[in-house]
Amino acid sequence: KKVIGIIGAMDEEIASLLNKMDQVRPHACYGIRFYRGTLEGTSLVLCKSGVGKVNAALCTQILIDRFQVQAIIFTGVAGALDSDLDIGDLVVSTECQQHDVDASVLGFPRGTIPFQEVSIFPADPDLVRWAVDAGKSLNHVKIVPGKVLSGDQFISDPAKVLELREQLKGACVEMEGAAVAHVSWLAGVPYVVIRSISDRADHSAHVNFAEFTRLAASRSSEMVCRLLALR
Ligand code: ADE
Repeated sequence: KKVIGIIGAMDEEIASLLNKMDQVRPHACYGIRFYRGTLEGTSLVLCKSGVGKVNAALCTQILIDRFQVQAIIFTGVAGALDSDLDIGDLVVSTECQQHDVDASVLGFPRGTIPFQEVSIFPADPDLVRWAVDAGKSLNHVKIVPGKVLSGDQFISDPAKVLELREQLKGACVEMEGAAVAHVSWLAGVPYVVIRSISDRADHSAHVNFAEFTRLAASRSSEMVCRLLALR
């Protein structure tokens, strides 16, 4: 039977899913708690990776190796890069890239990993379609399929937003998705990242993040629930 891995970086990002899960069985591994159980009739393993690319990569690898998940969904909040996005709107990853990879001084384009064939990791088209369809039942919320950029930086600068949008064509920016995407791609496991906007990655980002993370995180988990119900 298919088992889905679901990752959030922070407590707020997994809390409502954990609440709704049935037959929850916790397991600890590398200091991360993994919760096996079911949700909307689907077997899944839910976990909180912690913040940043390394934590997210480790968590993804454990889900694949130890829990043998057949697909991975990341749920959480992000800063908007696309100016059409309002707080609470949703981005479904069509692809992910690490914006903080930069060996441009050696002649490698910014955001590309030297000597590696792929640096922009495509999400699974079926998962993307399911997520977008699932989002249609959420009223008054924009669902934007687009590129998710990740780096080990909290972005709070309009100049940086412009740069990430123009140079790397990102719809939103966060700190884990591309790491999940990278590991999933290496393992051949389908993934999708679902992010709801908590802030605009500008000078007010830290204030907005504090105020809207809970709302945005619950929107993203609602989308995950509806996606699971659709499958
Ligand atoms: N997650 C939510 N908002 C973010 C931002 N502005 N930068 C990086 N990660 C984020």
